[in-house]
Amino acid sequence: MWNKSRLTEGESRYSSKKTDDICSEANDEDSGRTLSMSRLKCIKYGLDMKAYLFLLVLVPMCVFVIYVHGPKITSFLRPLWEKPPKSFHDIPHYYHENVSMENLCKLHGWGIREHPRRVFDVVLFNNEVDILKIRWKELDPYVTEFVLLESNSTFTGLAKPLFFSANRGQFKFVESRLTYGQCPGRFRRGENPFIEEAYQRLALDFLLKQAGIQDDDLLIMSDVDEIPSRHTINLLRWCDGIPPILHLRLKNYLYSFEFLVDNNSWRASVHRYQSGKTKYAHYRHSDDILADAGWHCSFCFRHINEFIFKMKAYSHFDRVRFSHFLNTKRIQRIICRGENLFDMLPEEYTFKEIIGKMGPIPHSYSAVYLPSYLLENAHKYKFLLPGNCLRESG
Ligand SMILES: *[C@@H]1O[C@H](CO)[C@@H](O)[C@H](O)[C@H]1NC(C)=O
Ligand SMILES: *[C@@H]1O[C@H](CO)[C@@H](O)[C@H](O)[C@H]1NC(C)=O
Ligand SMILES: *[C@@H]1O[C@H](CO)[C@@H](O)[C@H](O)[C@H]1NC(C)=O
Repeated sequence: MWNKSRLTEGESRYSSKKTDDICSEANDEDSGRTLSMSRLKCIKYGLDMKAYLFLLVLVPMCVFVIYVHGPKITSFLRPLWEKPPKSFHDIPHYYHENVSMENLCKLHGWGIREHPRRVFDVVLFNNEVDILKIRWKELDPYVTEFVLLESNSTFTGLAKPLFFSANRGQFKFVESRLTYGQCPGRFRRGENPFIEEAYQRLALDFLLKQAGIQDDDLLIMSDVDEIPSRHTINLLRWCDGIPPILHLRLKNYLYSFEFLVDNNSWRASVHRYQSGKTKYAHYRHSDDILADAGWHCSFCFRHINEFIFKMKAYSHFDRVRFSHFLNTKRIQRIICRGENLFDMLPEEYTFKEIIGKMGPIPHSYSAVYLPSYLLENAHKYKFLLPGNCLRESG
């Protein structure tokens, strides 16, 4: 709509008024038959002028607009060429701390077990040290074994430090339950980054076996920044008859818990492990999804440098179309406004949703029910809470 109104404004600038002015002298001198002749000439002249103006002004302008906003234009038109994915079967989620586990299971139509299942939390680690700590503290009471793999290569084939290894001292509380693996990068330049990512996820399957996972153990498959809430995992380990594969619908935050984008992050999933069948991946595995099961906090970094690293190094590096996207001041300004780092439109499948989500994300002032470790150490993680958008440099 916005594009359209702009176009018509542009057209009106070349309306017939202007060509009349150019020809007005000729019109005054002539009369009768010659008038119509010269008018014809004028019209022709006007048309030529229009054509030149079109070529000289409009074409370069279009090229420039397409160069700068091309991805925006194509993603705005996405509803025309892409159908939305099949919708999920939403499972209502019931929880209150004062309701017994037996009743909670019953509310979901499930039975209760005599013993809880064992739980394996498995992540592929890049550089999210702060978020990893919040995640592991959240899941700590219910996880049997933490499994973490890191590589000295980013998905785009750049060398990277082993950030977990360098910060391992912060994670003493899981040391006795940690299976840690390193995966040497292959460093193939110019390859599609999704290939390196798939290769690293494959390595995770081996590490998982090493960690001693067995059939019917619960396996949490999610990125580090997709954090299931503690009570969700407790429910799933205690109840009988849960779906073999269940996606978790997470609240979707950007930069911090101040910017709630939507409630629809769906990639995280929980699996009842079946050896030979369960494969570690980060795509859609099934149709069942449990509502309101945790938080997804993308680009929730403490330092501006971490934003730059992530923008350059991961699977969406192609979105950094201009070098000024990596400018420190620009990144800080965008974080505080809740705008898009890559200057892109929302990735949605209907015009209504695209238009509804255009512009900055509204501020949220609720910090009610966030991961408990975050709230108990608010001074340390201030940058993740509402009203603290300024980041540390370096
Ligand atoms: C909720 O449970 C706690 C203990 O688990 C108890 O102290 C408290 O009184 C309960 N509250 C209500 C409203 O039942
Ligand atoms: C990555 O790690 C592997 C094995 O750990 C090592 O042989 C290789 O030299 C490392 N590459 C870089 C660029 O650090
Ligand atoms: C997300 O869900 C909460 C309730 O859990 C609601 O208050 C909020 O408006 C929702 N946000 C969006 C962006 O849909």
